[in-house]
Amino acid sequence: MLRRPRRNRQSPAIRAMVEETTLSVNDFIYPMFVMEGQNLVSEVKSMPGIFRYSLDKLLEELSVVQDLGIRSIALFPQLPEALKDKYASESHREGSLYLEAINEIKNAFPSICVMSDVAMDPYSSDGHDGIVENGQILNDESLEVLGKMALAQAEAGADIVGPSDMMDGRVGYIRDILDNEGYTDVSIMAYSAKYASAFYGPFRDALDSAPKFGDKKTYQMNPANVREALIEAELDYLEGADFLMVKPALAYLDVIKTLNDNFNIPIAAYNVSGEYAMVKAAAQNGWLDGTKTMIESLTSIKRAGAKIILTYFAKEFAQL
Ligand code: PBG
Repeated sequence: MLRRPRRNRQSPAIRAMVEETTLSVNDFIYPMFVMEGQNLVSEVKSMPGIFRYSLDKLLEELSVVQDLGIRSIALFPQLPEALKDKYASESHREGSLYLEAINEIKNAFPSICVMSDVAMDPYSSDGHDGIVENGQILNDESLEVLGKMALAQAEAGADIVGPSDMMDGRVGYIRDILDNEGYTDVSIMAYSAKYASAFYGPFRDALDSAPKFGDKKTYQMNPANVREALIEAELDYLEGADFLMVKPALAYLDVIKTLNDNFNIPIAAYNVSGEYAMVKAAAQNGWLDGTKTMIESLTSIKRAGAKIILTYFAKEFAQL
């Protein structure tokens, strides 16, 4: 035998030398949840180790997170039902919890990169990412809300805005508004290939943001499709996105690879709540080694071509 691949695996030193993919905290964006109130920390039941924080507590947690070397976060708000309405008006109201939070985080931790979420669902009484009329999700009317939301977030200090709504044309629409208002340096991370996935369940528990009727299949993508992801990605690229995201990650590694093979801007992947919950649940039962499974999962996402990974594991990884 001239070729013996096992020779390159025979010692830790050689294995390290030939290792093709390495993870670092620089690869991660840590999703965090903010809620109303004071001195409150509440664990998301279906996401052990992940908490919703009132703003004062979130700031305390951020100093821990920053000390661990995490440099970027994605922030999501949990709102009481009373603040939700058909038009998600709370999403761009001056002084709202979310905008205050972005502002205070950037004041206290100017070097942390804050990515905001642009979508109506946490603020919508219908629980959808766009305006609902007669059971339909309106596209172009929703863009106006998304534009106001993105602008308000940029004004509050967001470094990256992340449209996660899947309305057509939103990246270009938002880019235009940001540029016209002087926010040419605010980046857009487009949730380009965002699938209508069952893996978002725990996140919707965390934010009480599940759709009040129907599902999200008229705007989020069919899990069966990958060619369609190229269309979404091309549009977002042409409309000015700085990053293209695939979401979820683990069940869509082929989509990550396809986008990475076809575009030269950084590809991000969102290792979503359900993917986190599965590993945690199995580990708590003693069915899987949680730490090893975490590292293997994150490595596979990066190996597939994601330069950036949004993951609830970021803190745990950093602690290692
Ligand atoms: C909605 C949004 C969702 C997530 C991020 N932004 C859920 C959805 O589309 O219903 C899910 C993230 C996760 O599951 O971790 N705009």
